[in-house]
This record gives sequence, structure tokens and C-alpha cells, in this order.
Amino acid sequence: MSAKVTVIDHPLIQHKLTLMRQTQTSTAKFRQLLKEIGMLLAYEVTRDLPLKYELIETPIAKMNAPVLAAEKKIVIISIMRAGQGLLDSILELIPSARVGHIGLYRDPTTRMAIEYYFKVPQDIEQRDVLIVDPMLATGNSAVAAVDRLKEVNPKSIKFLCLLAAPEGLKHFHEQHPDVQIYTAAVDERLDEHGYIVPGLGDAGDRLYGTL
Ligand code: URA
Repeated sequence: MSAKVTVIDHPLIQHKLTLMRQTQTSTAKFRQLLKEIGMLLAYEVTRDLPLKYELIETPIAKMNAPVLAAEKKIVIISIMRAGQGLLDSILELIPSARVGHIGLYRDPTTRMAIEYYFKVPQDIEQRDVLIVDPMLATGNSAVAAVDRLKEVNPKSIKFLCLLAAPEGLKHFHEQHPDVQIYTAAVDERLDEHGYIVPGLGDAGDRLYGTL
């Protein structure tokens, strides 16, 4: 199966993303914008969630009403630390979702992703996974996260980011053609340090004010 990239180009998302990119945007504003965009992205990514019907009573009548069939069966996996910003916003929409964390850091010389933390729900085999990380740059972290998650065999895996670079998407698709990627934009390229151009800088630093 060949996975696709879905670019979620809703005008509200594009407007907020432009504000996030700007150097002069403060940490507080950046965090707020990521939260808002995260919710809008989550709305699209969860479009195909299955529904079931339950008998309820309105003040007027009984009805069979739709509810999420598997709200507690979704696991959001945050790639630390920048993934936390997207995770928090998605949890506002799906509060019963379970949460996992993968800690990866980028080796400054090789740029390879090195794992330092991994914690996911025990019954992940029965769950659908959404991995979140704002920046898909070289794709090394995304590939390493999916490699690791495939070892624990979840029902399905999707990947959600805010920005992606063409080089990273290519690398990711070569390694994991079965995993669908959702992003708000695909930028031009990577620079020699592995940053996305034009990008928005270091998402973790901008989110937590550690510049
Ligand atoms: N990670 C970031 O935070 N920004 C980039 O541009 C690339 C990787």
C-alpha cells in the first residue's frame, strides 16, 4: 500500500500558521496558536472515526443518537518534547483518548534519532495510534517513532505534523509506505542543519521559550 500526504489547507489553519512562522510571535502566542491549529488539524484527522448509535432521550423524544464507537481506543503518541503542544490540543477534543510518549533526541553529528523514553498503554494492540510531532524535517524521528511502535503492533498508525519538508516525506514514505501523514503545509527544503526552510525555527524552543 502506498501512503499519501494529506495537506490540511483550511484558511484558518493557514492564517494561524503564518502567525506562528513569524519571528516576532511571542512564546505565549506561539503556544496558543499551536493549540488552536492542533484542534483544527485533529478535526480533520479524526474525520473517519467510527460511530455507534445509543438510545437517548431529548426533552422532546427518544432517539438513536450517534456517539464515538471507540473513543477510549485511540492513543495519541507525543514525540517529546514539541509533540506535547499538539497532544494537549487534541486531548481537549478527545478527552478519553489514551496517551503515550516517545522521547527521541537528534544526535547533533549524525542527525539520527536516539530513543531515551518509551511508554505506551499496555493494550496498544487493540488501539489506533496517532503520532504527533509538529516538525517532520529529515524524517528520522518520525521513522524511528513508527519503527518502535510497529514493534508493539497497534491496530493502525497515522502521523500528524504541522510542517513537513519534502526530503523528510520522501524518507518517511520509503520506510513506512503504509502510514498516512497529515500536515498543514509542505515547505521548500531542509537547510544544512536539518531545519525546515522557510519553516518556523525550532518548534520546541519556540513553544517553551528556551531559545
Ligand atoms: N525541528 C524543528 O523544531 N524545526 C525544524 O525546522 C526542524 C526540526
